[in-house]
Amino acid sequence: QLQELDASKLTVTKTTTPRELVPPSELVFGRTFTDHMLSIEWTASEGWHAPRITPYQNLSLDPASCVFHYAFECFEGMKAYKDSKGQVRLFRPDKNMERMNKSTSRIALPTFDRASMIDLLSKFAALEERFIPSAKGYSLYLRPTMIGTQRTLGVGPPGSALLYVIASPVGPYYPTGFKAVSLEATDYAVRAWPGGVGDKKLGANYAPCIVPQMEAAKRGFHQNLWLFGEEEYVTEVGTMNMFVALKNKETGQKELVTAPLDGTILEGVTRDSVLSLAREKLIPQGWKISERKYTMPELAEAASEGRLLEAFGSGTAAVVSPVRNISYKGQLVECGLKPGEEAGEIATSMLRWIESRQYGDEEHDWSYVV
Ligand code: COI
Repeated sequence: QLQELDASKLTVTKTTTPRELVPPSELVFGRTFTDHMLSIEWTASEGWHAPRITPYQNLSLDPASCVFHYAFECFEGMKAYKDSKGQVRLFRPDKNMERMNKSTSRIALPTFDRASMIDLLSKFAALEERFIPSAKGYSLYLRPTMIGTQRTLGVGPPGSALLYVIASPVGPYYPTGFKAVSLEATDYAVRAWPGGVGDKKLGANYAPCIVPQMEAAKRGFHQNLWLFGEEEYVTEVGTMNMFVALKNKETGQKELVTAPLDGTILEGVTRDSVLSLAREKLIPQGWKISERKYTMPELAEAASEGRLLEAFGSGTAAVVSPVRNISYKGQLVECGLKPGEEAGEIATSMLRWIESRQYGDEEHDWSYVV
């Protein structure tokens, strides 16, 4: 009989050496961690073992562990917030857990009961409550991770795995307000392809993107705009989903566009939140909201005719990240910002609307009180 993941079996061993808190203004994304970690082992013969919260500590793994050789690894990024009453809230944890199970099953790692995992994440976030600053823009970034731990160089499904969660207090991505970024349209390297795994949150999708990112940086650009195919479809920006606001050539109708989930696009939780909010708030204002393919030539043409209103990336870390311009075939495609302006209207409103649900200022079922 294989054991299901059972949150009621949780044991907690608290640290005897609590860390000193880093002053909020000195927080750097993903650099400092909390006192504890959550770990759950899995074996093919027994299923999920009892969950443990222990002091944050090194892992001890055999050098032959399959994660090190064949990249049996996937992760999630999600945040816990503190509301005005001091309550800790997770943002759409069901979405992250659903996606994590899709990632694990794609690489022959085990799935788990989502509700039990949300229960465990809640207990962990509540225990680390003192690390969550209550100021706007601050949160506790949670990093659920699963690795294959079987000690073998044989290429096959891992017979053992470890699911663990660490947590890092983070500040606003742009401490001095929005900073619009410059992108390099990248066609010589491909992030994801049909039938591939670009829609899963596998660590193996990220490492190969660093060299192109360094190449772009060398030429003065912050991020890659990942294109796909001869049509030069716009897919993602850096590690974020991409949105553009366009004005229709014939009708003048405004349209918010992002690429469809065709297997090459990460199923971003913030992407989904932006789309829901846009449908709720922008359709009544006459906007069209589209999940459709769009190309770099389409953006270049719209920009040259003054119809590219704005562009921004969406992700858990930055929430929204406005784009100033895109280097494409030796020209700079301007994305609707006036000189000195750091964000368009939609990016600005989106951040406000999303934050209001994340911090519980607006009561909404996206926010889960732990
Ligand atoms: C994002 O939140 O935008 C991410 O992709 C997280 C990143 C640190 C991998």
